[in-house]
Amino acid sequence: MSRRILVVGATGKQGRALISHLSTPSPDHESESFQILALTRTPSSQASQSLTLINQSISLLKADLNSPSSIRKIFTDLGGKGSIYGVFVALQFPGLGANADAELAQGIAIADLANEFQVQRFIFSSLERGSESYDQYLTLDRASKRDIERHIISLPNLPWTILRPGFFMENLSGTLGRITTSVLLAGLNPSTQIPLVAVDDIGRVSSQILTVPSPSLPCDELTNECEQSSSPKYTHAKIPIISSLRTPSQMLQSHLSATSTPQPQIPLFLARLLIHLNTHTKNLIDDINRIHTTISSPQSKWGEGGWTCYLSKNAYDFVPENEMTSYEDWARERQKKKDGGGEWGGWNGVRIWDLVRGRR
Ligand SMILES: NC(=O)c1ccc[n+]([C@@H]2O[C@H](COP(=O)([O-])OP(=O)(O)OC[C@H]3O[C@@H](n4cnc5c(N)ncnc54)[C@H](OP(=O)(O)O)[C@@H]3O)[C@@H](O)[C@H]2O)c1
Repeated sequence: MSRRILVVGATGKQGRALISHLSTPSPDHESESFQILALTRTPSSQASQSLTLINQSISLLKADLNSPSSIRKIFTDLGGKGSIYGVFVALQFPGLGANADAELAQGIAIADLANEFQVQRFIFSSLERGSESYDQYLTLDRASKRDIERHIISLPNLPWTILRPGFFMENLSGTLGRITTSVLLAGLNPSTQIPLVAVDDIGRVSSQILTVPSPSLPCDELTNECEQSSSPKYTHAKIPIISSLRTPSQMLQSHLSATSTPQPQIPLFLARLLIHLNTHTKNLIDDINRIHTTISSPQSKWGEGGWTCYLSKNAYDFVPENEMTSYEDWARERQKKKDGGGEWGGWNGVRIWDLVRGRR
């Protein structure tokens, strides 16, 4: 029987990337077949229906994370405990400066259900925050992601993996991308390296984690000790996913060298005004500066190694660093698609007016 994988946030950027990778035969899982269950509030929507173009045998399941009973019904209808092999979860961004209590409740509900119904892989896609040293000061959706992570970790029988993706390269697409580029240039310290990730890489790493075979290792019957697995550790692991580190000016240079065109921007004085007007945009900038300082300062626990050391044991175990999407690769691809930015309406669904008002 094929293994069922439930994708929460299936019509979103990360879920869609995961579904693409799960649907592409790879040496790691070509002999296995997976049945993809795409959770959506609206199976008839264009976004949901377009998933059937990626995978014809995908099942679109209607449920709402705000109604845990609708999610429970999915598990029970499919046969109860053990009927779903793996669950991937990306939750919708609550909005700039918005209360994130609903996100927290959604994350806890899906983790509890996955635990109760004994899934064998559970991935929560959280957020890179430069270690946990600043956790007590986090607010809004960052605090809710921290608390969802803590809840997941408190479930000892849940084989969880927490992914911590960096700043999506897709945030730099389209009209909002022009503004975001200038906000990064105007607000960040010149030496701050932006931990960029292509959403496709999140899908690739998640697909690897969901499909890598469980290690079956010889155990010593007397001592009950098992040999150490040589396969990458994904269970009970917190994994940052960063595809490319670039300072703001390196980002511009990379774009220029990859595409022979300057990265689109708005005038810097407008970006400065935006940062001045909008506390949440300013907080975002401060956060990227803080993350860089935390990891790269010689006094950090990663020492002189900084980012290299921080990133050495993580997503690169699943997708080697040189196979991750560089910013150059991403810019070239975007150029090819003649990106207009209209496809998904900006990063985290935030719109230009939200940036000015400071909320969504
Ligand atoms: N942008 C960044 O740089 C960045 C970096 C790191 C982490 N993140 C995090 O990434 C997350 C967003 O991921 P994404 O961009 O892949 O998502 P997205 O494209 O915004 O899509 C949101 C998904 O959530 C689903 N959804 C929303 N409300 C739901 C509900 N009540 N019940 C069931 N499904 C619901 C939507 O499905 P339907 O509409 O089909 O129901 C959709 O599939 C956020 O938590 C954000 O903080 C973002």
